[in-house]
Amino acid sequence: MNTNLSGKTAVITGGARGIGNAVARSLAAEGADIALLDLLEGVAEAAQSIAEEHGVRALGQRLDVTDQGATVAAFEVIAERLSVPQILLTAAGIEINGDSIDVTAAQWRKVIDVNLTGTFFSVQAFGRGLLTAKLPGSAVLISSMSAEIVNVPQWAASYNSSKAAVRHLATSLSVEWAPSDIRVNSIAPGYVMTELTRQIIEREPELEADWVSRIPQGRMARPEDLTGLVIFLASDASSYLTGQQIIIDGGYTAV
Ligand SMILES: NC(=O)c1ccc[n+]([C@@H]2O[C@H](COP(=O)([O-])OP(=O)(O)OC[C@H]3O[C@@H](n4cnc5c(N)ncnc54)[C@H](O)[C@@H]3O)[C@@H](O)[C@H]2O)c1
Repeated sequence: MNTNLSGKTAVITGGARGIGNAVARSLAAEGADIALLDLLEGVAEAAQSIAEEHGVRALGQRLDVTDQGATVAAFEVIAERLSVPQILLTAAGIEINGDSIDVTAAQWRKVIDVNLTGTFFSVQAFGRGLLTAKLPGSAVLISSMSAEIVNVPQWAASYNSSKAAVRHLATSLSVEWAPSDIRVNSIAPGYVMTELTRQIIEREPELEADWVSRIPQGRMARPEDLTGLVIFLASDASSYLTGQQIIIDGGYTAV
């Protein structure tokens, strides 16, 4: 199975920490040059640490993925400094939990803006670069098991809806761009221990045991549990696989 990514540039939105950062490291271990795009100040240091650890070229740039112009500009800088990105992982995402009846317009728009619109702007800039350069590529959009089922006991209608839309965004682009050899898939993780889930658990500590009790494998995922799947989807090992959502949840949705 050929998972070597040498000579390719991978962009990871939300790559300064969490799932995006773990995947970025694993793509670098396969030889890819890495560009991290994230709101966080530490994004440049995160890229530097990947470069030092794996001997690849890496850059980290602050970006708000909801800013279309800034996203286009960031992809242009990456193409100039590294090469036209042929791998994309969209990991920038947020979750705001609460009873739907109380959700404000600002909260609703924020979740849809970051998770759906930001993902679209990222994959749009990625696709534009490839179509212009006439290069093949692979985009992996992070959706969630929440795109498929309704997680309980916490409520997150905006998050669930945004992730269901990300799934169909991937499907839509996969068909549109298949003739240009650009593959687009989504992955749907179950509960992963990251800052995102840690903050939810901090507010409601009883949630962790509740979640774990519903996971057949008996534990939340570590970000590293997702890396093999993304390497597979990013590489030529999955050259005939497009338009699919792959659930990776320790069996949560199998029950
Ligand atoms: N942790 C889980 O259980 C879980 C499960 C399923 C899906 N996901 C999804 O995986 C993705 C990564 O989440 P994570 O768990 O690693 O969380 P995380 O909070 O650790 O990482 C998310 C990253 O996205 C960045 N980000 C947020 N808004 C941004 C914006 N507007 N522009 C640029 N960057 C922005 C954050 O700064 C952060 O570095 C998210 O889309 C999340 O919805 C997470």
